[in-house]
Amino acid sequence: MSMDHPGGFAVAPACAFQRVVKVVANHQVAHETFQLTVDDPAMAASMLPGQFLMVRPPGGSDPLLGRPFALYEVERDDKGVPTGISVVYTVVGKGTSALSRCRQGDELSIWGPLGHPFGLPPIEGEVLFVAGGIGQTPFLALGRWWLGRSEYGGIQVQQPARSATLLYGIRSAEMAAGLSDFKAAGINVELATDDGSIGHHGYVTDLLRARLARNERPAKVVGCGPPAMLAALSKLVAEYDVPCDLSLENHMACGFGVCFSCVAPIRQSDGSTDLKRVCVEGPIFAAHDVVWS
Ligand SMILES: Cc1cc2nc3c(=O)[nH]c(=O)nc-3n(C[C@H](O)[C@H](O)[C@H](O)COP(=O)(O)OP(=O)(O)OC[C@H]3O[C@@H](n4cnc5c(N)ncnc54)[C@H](O)[C@@H]3O)c2cc1C
Ligand code: FES
Repeated sequence: MSMDHPGGFAVAPACAFQRVVKVVANHQVAHETFQLTVDDPAMAASMLPGQFLMVRPPGGSDPLLGRPFALYEVERDDKGVPTGISVVYTVVGKGTSALSRCRQGDELSIWGPLGHPFGLPPIEGEVLFVAGGIGQTPFLALGRWWLGRSEYGGIQVQQPARSATLLYGIRSAEMAAGLSDFKAAGINVELATDDGSIGHHGYVTDLLRARLARNERPAKVVGCGPPAMLAALSKLVAEYDVPCDLSLENHMACGFGVCFSCVAPIRQSDGSTDLKRVCVEGPIFAAHDVVWS
């Protein structure tokens, strides 16, 4: 399977598979937010930034369905050989509560890698990642990949981005997750909070608007977060005509294209709108193609 990525690069995702894996670690990284690492060398060797996996929380048939999580990082041994997958999640309901109770050595059923990855970085440019809440998760691996610091799925970026900055909007300082990971990866971080407890007091899109108003034009923007934030981001990048991709996080039941629970209205080349399955035709879409009502 291959696709023409919104960035114009043909990328062929690896085939997904289902397996039972062992939990290596599951520790709290911010308020109600955990980093889960599972032991899976095969998936770790093939997964690309932007892809996701379905994780079936423990607990028999309740909840019955797996839950989708973006790749946060590929874990590697001392020689750099991929050994496992990490995801970072916030507890919002039954599935993520069950996951938060997992301990080292527990078994989980997972399937992936799913969805299409991000394409290659813009040549020689600055990239800006705009995240709302737990929408920061796809950007650690993406930043490392685009800066040429790690290969993913055996692909090493030959012409890395000049710099990468994460504009990260959260409710309050206690929700900030993974700041040291981003800094260690060479990704600059600017924060915005709803309550002003750290960083800019206001929306994360304010940070981007201020840069664009100062004529600091990035080569590319990538966004992930709640729909209202993505709609505002889409409007802003359209105003300044900046290339932008979005990673959508619609509710998903199956994760592999059969239930249609995840559809999003996507603009077609003839101007019409079609409902596309985010799990198989996304989760990455060009911002100007996503129709916000
Ligand atoms: C491709 C993809 C990647 C994702 N990556 C991550 C990630 O890296 N980290 C992370 O924390 N979450 C991520 N999510 C969202 C995550 O899948 C949901 O938070 C999770 O499924 C909730 O499960 P639950 O059983 O705990 O909540 P539920 O009991 O199913 O729901 C609890 C509440 O959360 C709401 N909710 C559930 N799913 C979503 C959703 N997708 N978007 C908005 N609200 C939702 C429900 O409406 C309900 O109000 C991702 C989603 C997708 C589609
Ligand atoms: S989640 Fe079932 S079709 Fe996308």
